[in-house]
Amino acid sequence: MTAPPPFHRIRVADVITETPDAHSLVLAVPPALAAAFAYRPGQYLTVRVPDDGGPVARCYSLSSSPHTGEQPKITIKRVRDGQASNWICDHVRPGSTLDLAPPAGTFTPGSLDDDLLLLAGGSGITPVMAIIKSVLAGGTGRLALVYANRDADSVIFRAELAALAGDRLEVVHWLDSERGAPTAAALAGAVQAYGNREAFVCGPEPFVVVAQQALQKAGVPAERVRVERFELEAVAGDGPDATAEVTLDGQTHLLPWPAGKRLLDVIVAAGLNPPFSCRQGQCGACALRLLDGEVELVNNEVLEEEDFADGYILACQALPRSEHVSVTYY
Ligand code: FES
Repeated sequence: MTAPPPFHRIRVADVITETPDAHSLVLAVPPALAAAFAYRPGQYLTVRVPDDGGPVARCYSLSSSPHTGEQPKITIKRVRDGQASNWICDHVRPGSTLDLAPPAGTFTPGSLDDDLLLLAGGSGITPVMAIIKSVLAGGTGRLALVYANRDADSVIFRAELAALAGDRLEVVHWLDSERGAPTAAALAGAVQAYGNREAFVCGPEPFVVVAQQALQKAGVPAERVRVERFELEAVAGDGPDATAEVTLDGQTHLLPWPAGKRLLDVIVAAGLNPPFSCRQGQCGACALRLLDGEVELVNNEVLEEEDFADGYILACQALPRSEHVSVTYY
């Protein structure tokens, strides 16, 4: 058993709107807690937030750098139906207090003098931003960043990154709206020139999977790839914890499916290789057939009544609504 993290009540000094969906909270850590809240770039804080079923704890990465003199800052992106992130974005104002546990996590560079390759998807930029600012301010390393987002409006820290880019920081923005969701082959091309560097990857699970495949293609050994996963936040789930019976490539797998998790994340997290693309319920690439049980789709902009009649659902949007769900990709 791990001891529960010790929470401290800390005041929020400021709230910065980074994008319409992402807020940074600047924290006024009192001197008495400065040592407990000392951190390394890439670490996260645990926040306790109220929830219908009692308080829940969520981890949010620090986007500030301990090497620049700025106050500690965590960045939170709103998630559709994500109770914790939405509660923070809706309720936390300058002067609010939050229950926070001290920094933790191992997604930190061994030396700020090393050259690094950084791959971030969406709000996965948060710990990567801390690493970038720390290396530029406190070390001599050179950095290459590939940063994937849905579209230009969802790019967090766009202006800050533009200001930091230069001899020691190359920034490549990958916008799905212009280039489609990144594939392993295309990302491999973008990172090929940096195959000799240690790589840091952070983003939602499907992005992490594609980035890992790309790095493998680019010749980066697995032991030189550091990963921080940002899972889709659990959504308001009154559904049951379930078991998913998933048939893919002729093999059937029994997977634990926690309430509030998307089926695609469950399948990807089990190390399987299902088809998907947009991850937003818009393209249909993740469609599969429901053989038994019930699911709810969080979003659906592609399937029609006749598709439902044929049993099709979207893995990227499916939540369990019965304790056993059987699905097949044929
Ligand atoms: Fe596009 Fe699921 S991946 S709808």
